[in-house]
Amino acid sequence: MIEVAMLDAAPKGVTVVSHPLVQHKLTLMRDKKRSTKGFRQLLNEIGMLLAYEVTRDLPTELVETETPITTTMAPMIAGKKLVLAPILRAGVGFLDGMLTLVPSARVAHIGLYRDPETLTAVEYYFKAPSDIADRLVIVVDPMLATANSAVAAIDRLKERGAKDLRFVCLLAAPEGIARLTAAHPDVPVWTAAIDEKLNDHGYIVPGLGDAGDRMYGTR
Ligand code: PRP
Ligand code: URA
Repeated sequence: MIEVAMLDAAPKGVTVVSHPLVQHKLTLMRDKKRSTKGFRQLLNEIGMLLAYEVTRDLPTELVETETPITTTMAPMIAGKKLVLAPILRAGVGFLDGMLTLVPSARVAHIGLYRDPETLTAVEYYFKAPSDIADRLVIVVDPMLATANSAVAAIDRLKERGAKDLRFVCLLAAPEGIARLTAAHPDVPVWTAAIDEKLNDHGYIVPGLGDAGDRMYGTR
């Protein structure tokens, strides 16, 4: 049996979100008996919690506000607006939860699938807001395995002009973290867990299986 380890120290540039609610929901998702409906619901809920964590340091500014009692200066989010960039398909599972917290965010869709033989990322769709260079872009995908998909998505977003990016996932393999942070050291990473390793087919161990298939009930 492979135990899920809780890391004390995350690698540089990586935040492991150890909140008990996140960890509890992730464990429910790992269970192979979890229904498609349950898996999707949990991914949505964790998306909300991770959105809370990844936006924790957004700058605020004081704005004049009239309460029913008096006028006061109160904080509101300042600066750049957000783009959420899910990697299709599984990244879409995070989207509704994140948009619940940040309803005004724009959305960039990045269609990629992993070639099962080579594990390289193959692009089939890309659509992003034209003002992406002026926005904070949060790339989301539940799984960071080899990181071929994450690196390809971030390459593509940078080509399109994105300058300020963050990456959020649910589960990461140490191999994927090493590759992503080497390829894009300017992109900080948030994950709920760093698992033990990749297996010979590029799946995260112990992991949760194929996130897209479990979310949509395919295969
Ligand atoms: C999964 C997952 C990531 C990718 C991670 O997508 O959602 O995008 O694999 O693996 P990597 O780090 O080795 O690139 P998949 O290609 O299975 O597509 P899907 O979401 O459409 O099922
Ligand atoms: N993609 C998945 O969905 N799961 C893995 O374990 C690896 C890549």
